[in-house]
Amino acid sequence: MPDFKIAPSILSADFARLGEEVDNVLKSGADVVHFDVMDNHYVPNLTIGPLVCDALRKHGVTADIDVHLMVKPVDRIIPDFAAAGASYITFHPEASEHIDRTLQLIQGEGCKSGLVFNPATPLDVLKHVIDKVDIVLLMSVNPGFGGQSFIPETLNKLREARKIIEASGRDIRLEIDGGVKVDNIREIAEAGADMFVAGSAVFGAKSATDANTYDSVIAAFRAELAKAAI
Ligand code: DX5
Ligand code: ZN
Repeated sequence: MPDFKIAPSILSADFARLGEEVDNVLKSGADVVHFDVMDNHYVPNLTIGPLVCDALRKHGVTADIDVHLMVKPVDRIIPDFAAAGASYITFHPEASEHIDRTLQLIQGEGCKSGLVFNPATPLDVLKHVIDKVDIVLLMSVNPGFGGQSFIPETLNKLREARKIIEASGRDIRLEIDGGVKVDNIREIAEAGADMFVAGSAVFGAKSATDANTYDSVIAAFRAELAKAAI
């Protein structure tokens, strides 16, 4: 069984109580904090930046923070996120003029680096830079908003990405982002993903007894993953 990681996207959290929300989701069994950065330029929405990442670290969050950059240009903001405590920094190849250089910049700052592929973006560039990639993130929705439906074609793309990763012989995570729910996480894992972003499915699942507890949905994810035929 692969070492599956569950990464709730704080895009769907209550931003007025962000530190508490992150504490609660980690206490409920999440592994990684997925941090969506949007600039109202590369994507049509505007969210959070390095100050908020730094605030979560100062609040006491020690889990990995997975910074998903949906910004253009990319390079200027990377050192700021590294200084703010990012663990992973991923970016969209369309948003960088020099993809190889951006990957080097991220690793040079001591973070794990990754490429994010939109639903219609082919994986072509991956093979040319795979020696500088620690994580591959496939978008299963068009980036910009939480709460969209999973695009089924992404399952084929996951299988293709998994083959490329296996052929490289490198220890590279394969992350999926968008529309992940309890009822599809198993087939997503079977297609090759080992890290699962879920925003609305996690933060929308308030427990009947305690609105700040997310353990039932995270346990349901793990139960489905345990059934995956891998
Ligand atoms: C979309 C973001 C996602 C988003 C996922 O651009 O990258 O991380 O929060 O939300 P759900 O899980 O609701 O599809
Ligand atoms: Zn994301």
